[in-house]
Amino acid sequence: MAKKLYIETVGCQMNVLDSELVVASLRQRGFELTSFVEEADCVLFNTCSVREHAEEKVYSALGRLKNAKRRHPHKVIGVIGCMAQNHQRTVFERAPYVDLVVGPGQLHQVPDLIDKIAAGAGPQLEVSLGRKDGSRELVARSHESFDPLRDPAMRPTPFQAYVRIQIGCDKFCTYCIVPSVRGPEQSRPPEHILAEARQLAADGCKEITLLGQTVNSYRYRGAGGTTRLSDLLYALHGIAAIERIKFVTNYPKDMTDDLLAAVRDLPKVCKYLHVPAQSGSNRVLQRMKRGYAIEEYREMHARIRQWLPEAAVTSDFIVGFSGESEDDFQQSCELVRECRFKNSFIFKYSVRPGTKGAELYADDVPEEVKRRRNNELLAIQNQIAEEDNGRFLGRQVEVLVEGPSKASLRRTADEPVQLVGRTMCDRIVVFDGNLRQVGHTLPASVYDANAHTLFGAVVTQHVGPELFTLTS
Ligand code: 5AD
Ligand code: SF4
Repeated sequence: MAKKLYIETVGCQMNVLDSELVVASLRQRGFELTSFVEEADCVLFNTCSVREHAEEKVYSALGRLKNAKRRHPHKVIGVIGCMAQNHQRTVFERAPYVDLVVGPGQLHQVPDLIDKIAAGAGPQLEVSLGRKDGSRELVARSHESFDPLRDPAMRPTPFQAYVRIQIGCDKFCTYCIVPSVRGPEQSRPPEHILAEARQLAADGCKEITLLGQTVNSYRYRGAGGTTRLSDLLYALHGIAAIERIKFVTNYPKDMTDDLLAAVRDLPKVCKYLHVPAQSGSNRVLQRMKRGYAIEEYREMHARIRQWLPEAAVTSDFIVGFSGESEDDFQQSCELVRECRFKNSFIFKYSVRPGTKGAELYADDVPEEVKRRRNNELLAIQNQIAEEDNGRFLGRQVEVLVEGPSKASLRRTADEPVQLVGRTMCDRIVVFDGNLRQVGHTLPASVYDANAHTLFGAVVTQHVGPELFTLTS
């Protein structure tokens, strides 16, 4: 009988991809997925360390497994990903019934480690070297990019896939734990990326999203010279079956003209750029060690508008970073008003032990001030997003249909299915249709909009092969 695997994933797209790959490698060892922890032979948490809250939630989830482990001692419980690398043995100390702790640079070992545990070898810990544990080469080598087989069943949809082009980060923003847990920045060879994209295309994938912590810093030096992200976009554009190419997340200082030109000139590349500003205040940016002044961010933003007037630009902001005054915060509000981002992810600062920020600065903005600033910035951003989406009323957009919306799961059998998809600029569109349309790119006219969603009607009823079956 097949062994059962339960996996929970939190965090960024990189983690979603890691989980897909771990599941694919475990399927090869006879595992099959289950949605029920109780019946699982192996329970894995793929974790995130960017904020404390995400880590504490994993400990709570582990706490809920304590009794299950007592009743079923053979159930393998594992913590993988960033928190495994960040906490290492502490995970065993805080949850002594955990069997497996594996960092993001060691995921290729997961299947063998599970076998070892099943054979009675006891708890297993595999992590990569810390940034100060050796030369850059040595540390980099200990963080392996894990990009083996793919598993379409694990993807949000079979026609969309993430492709890793870079691991790690070298920017060392003072608030951020990522450079410690994901190691030095390393770009994958372009021929590996292209081979993977071609395989995905052959398997029916239409949209690929290139992933890197600072994706536009991608640079591969090989025998044939240096490959930049823009070169990679041109090469990927040649794969006929791929209809859309996206890339996240961008670092403002590396948003070079060759990249903007590639985005402008390549019709399959989505006119969507996620370029986090983090703050609108030079004082704060300096303490964050972001590496640019706000004037440079503004200049970069103006360049994007010049090259790509219709592009959707999105950002991340941290509010309540150490020393952030009301005036600093107002400068973030001003930047949002001025740049009119399509969307911003806003986070309250969370001190991460092990970062320069934790070492150098006090976490001195009170929680209620962080919360108020978060809400205030979000309200400004939401109003802009609503006005921006309002521009689409009465217009026609191309939607890659992803599947039934959450709302449609509450509908009765005789009501039409509500489908959800995205435009080339990453705007979410919902419309009434039928499951045959899933996986196709269709024109929709927009008749209503709010800050997060465009409501559309499909203009032509597509009749084509069924690419999607509703399984849950
Ligand atoms: N506290 C709050 N937000 C953080 N981010 C990164 N580190 C922290 C932290 N310590 C945010 C940044 C980043 C996003 C992925 O998470 O805005 O762009
Ligand atoms: Fe963290 Fe800065 Fe690297 Fe982004 S660029 S992962 S915020 S250190």
